[in-house]
Amino acid sequence: MNPSPAPGLAVRPYFDPFDPALHTDPYGRYASARETSALCEGPYGLVVVTRHAEVSRALRDNRLGHGPLTAPNRIFSFLGMDPPDHGPLRRLASRFFSASAISALAPRIAVLVDYLLDIALEKRQVDLLSDFAYPLSLRVVCGLFGLPEQEQPWIREQTPPIARLLDPPYALTEQDMTAAHSAAAGFVAYLHRKINDRRRHPGPDALSALIAEADSGGPPARHDLLPLCALLLMAGYETTANIITNGALALLRHPDQLALARSRAGGGLLDSGAMNELLRYDSSIQITFRTVQQPAVIAGTPLHRGTPVALLIGSANHDPRVFARPERLDVSRASNPHLSFGAGIHYCLGAPLARLEASVALGRLLARTRGIESTPGAVRHKDITATLRGVTALPVTLTAP
Ligand code: HEM
Repeated sequence: MNPSPAPGLAVRPYFDPFDPALHTDPYGRYASARETSALCEGPYGLVVVTRHAEVSRALRDNRLGHGPLTAPNRIFSFLGMDPPDHGPLRRLASRFFSASAISALAPRIAVLVDYLLDIALEKRQVDLLSDFAYPLSLRVVCGLFGLPEQEQPWIREQTPPIARLLDPPYALTEQDMTAAHSAAAGFVAYLHRKINDRRRHPGPDALSALIAEADSGGPPARHDLLPLCALLLMAGYETTANIITNGALALLRHPDQLALARSRAGGGLLDSGAMNELLRYDSSIQITFRTVQQPAVIAGTPLHRGTPVALLIGSANHDPRVFARPERLDVSRASNPHLSFGAGIHYCLGAPLARLEASVALGRLLARTRGIESTPGAVRHKDITATLRGVTALPVTLTAP
């Protein structure tokens, strides 16, 4: 832990990206920080970047990186790697997310969404998170790896403690570390068993393909295989489930925009303008962290090597310098350079898959219902990490046309 403030930042306003109150109202707090300064000072000597131009530039600046892999974040593979280690693993994983690989998944995603909606419309009262968004996103990503449906609830249970590791190690308590390590150990043992099984009985899935590459000399090296699978599995479903529910909640709170989106979703697909606006408005990733690897300058402030940096993606997405009336949900917004999928070398590899899943899920939900009533009561947000944003549940009543 480094509690000393970054040099030159003594007079900056203070912003704590780990403040649990941020889960309730991030955007009001971002606005007051952002309008005061492009850079704030945070705990642990953090430099907190608030505005779109600076966050965008910092995401693309390879002088900001992650440094040597530490035991806790090793489980997230190339997400936590700098060049030159990052590139070969990312290129390898890219093949599963190419345009053709994703469009081949489209029919299966539509069938899955309709199956879940059939059940939901019959029940009428459902939780859009646990009855719709989670089963969909888990089945899609586990389907890529050939992991059976009955194991998916267990995978979901392991995620919250492991996802804690998305926050930097200096922000984790001993208790967090212990819980994360024990969940990670169980998950690693599970993946080991899967890898061994699949080595003996290969199938037409991503896991078998990765094992074949590793066994023929790589990349991936054999020791890279397990974290690579863990990253693709975990990155693949929590964020997607959250954008589906964050998006549905945003539409429910803006009935005029819901009606507009529904009028354009006749084919069962949310249009890309509306999808981008939902991604911008309440992204399932709010913050990402870096450490200065080589002296860099942000907003005219020189930062020395070792300085920890927090990039407020959620704040950048609401910066009035870039988005007119940013607090308004506007599914017809013409220009939408949101940063919800990051930028630069770590730009989200799964962005096309996430867009497809969320557009089909929300598009068919709108097209196949006449009404969606949210159950009165306060919506609560998960308090897993500073990075992730999503509700704990979204109870609704659905009316068929
Ligand atoms: C709406 C859903 C999603 C959001 C908002 C999201 C957001 C992001 C962001 C912001 C990053 C960059 C992190 C950083 O720069 O530190 C990232 C990276 C990544 N995402 Fe996503 N993601 C989503 C869905 C997915 C899906 C479905 C997958 C795969 C199945 C995926 C796989 C990845 C991977 C592998 C990386 C690391 C890329 C790299 O380091 O080169 N994501 N994601």
